Amino acid sequence: MTREWTRKDLLGLEELSSEELLLLLEQARAFKEVSLRPIKKVPALRGRTVVLFFLEPSTRTRTSFELAAKRLSADILSIQAGSSSLSKGETLQDTIRNIEAMKVDIVVIRHAMSGAPRLVARTAVSSIVNAGDGSHEHPTQGLVDLYTIWEKKERIAGLNVTIVGDIAHSRVARSNLWGLTKLGAHVTLCGPPTLMPAGIEQFGVKVTYNLREAMRDADILMLLRLQLERQTQNLLPSIREYAKLFGIDREKLAWGKPDLLIMHPGPVNRGIELAPEVADGPQSLIYDQVTNGVAVRMAVLYLVSGGRQIRKARPAPSPTQPVGV
Ligand code: CP
Repeated sequence: MTREWTRKDLLGLEELSSEELLLLLEQARAFKEVSLRPIKKVPALRGRTVVLFFLEPSTRTRTSFELAAKRLSADILSIQAGSSSLSKGETLQDTIRNIEAMKVDIVVIRHAMSGAPRLVARTAVSSIVNAGDGSHEHPTQGLVDLYTIWEKKERIAGLNVTIVGDIAHSRVARSNLWGLTKLGAHVTLCGPPTLMPAGIEQFGVKVTYNLREAMRDADILMLLRLQLERQTQNLLPSIREYAKLFGIDREKLAWGKPDLLIMHPGPVNRGIELAPEVADGPQSLIYDQVTNGVAVRMAVLYLVSGGRQIRKARPAPSPTQPVGV
């Protein structure tokens, strides 16, 4: 099937079609092969400039975007919150306008305010990539998770994916919800009622507050960090109680199927949402997710910059077809 990417920006998975998601995943697969070569560099973005504009802390997303841009041979400019003139009162849009005046091609932006990348994209000439905005979306993390599931299970359609934790404040949960349901997975959300958005079932997901029930048929168990920095009121009696009810240790891991796979977007609070022996255990995909972050972000940078052709890769099972079909 011929697929084409026509968007200037990547702002969220909500607005993407299943075809666009598949195009991103297939492109990421091609770039994963590049990441496994001794020389991990292709000239796809030679002469282009990528700006990394991170106004919130980040380890995985920022470094994997930087590596992705370097592996595509782009020039990179990194701007941190404290060192920009935002701290002198300049507006975000003015800052971006000034950066754009230097003729950059892609601005990757992380911001604490939901909707900030979309606001900037309205007037920006360059491509805007959302690297996480408040509790709204984290589309590239959603793509990393979709890719990792596809890589390990050879499909996404028909899988039972349970997401556990602070759903209300999680941009990762929202991006995964859109991506997984569009590609045919069955999504269950689980967590304390105070951390579950009201009416979320209308988006085609199941909600339960019982972890054992949520784990029973799960193929994938995705755990989320408590977003204490985004909670404006006390929503939990204590972190210890959360860990006791929803934290996954070896004992609770046995409630799931033997081939259950564990995912976490990071950063992991060991001992709260996940015990160290589970985070580092054989069922954990946490470091696979980090590895795949580079290839997925290469695919995003390549496609938003106008890449049209899918680079050659071995034929892969489709994420939306059962194995062998
Ligand atoms: N998953 C994720 O967004 O991690 P960072 O905050 O380290 O980028």
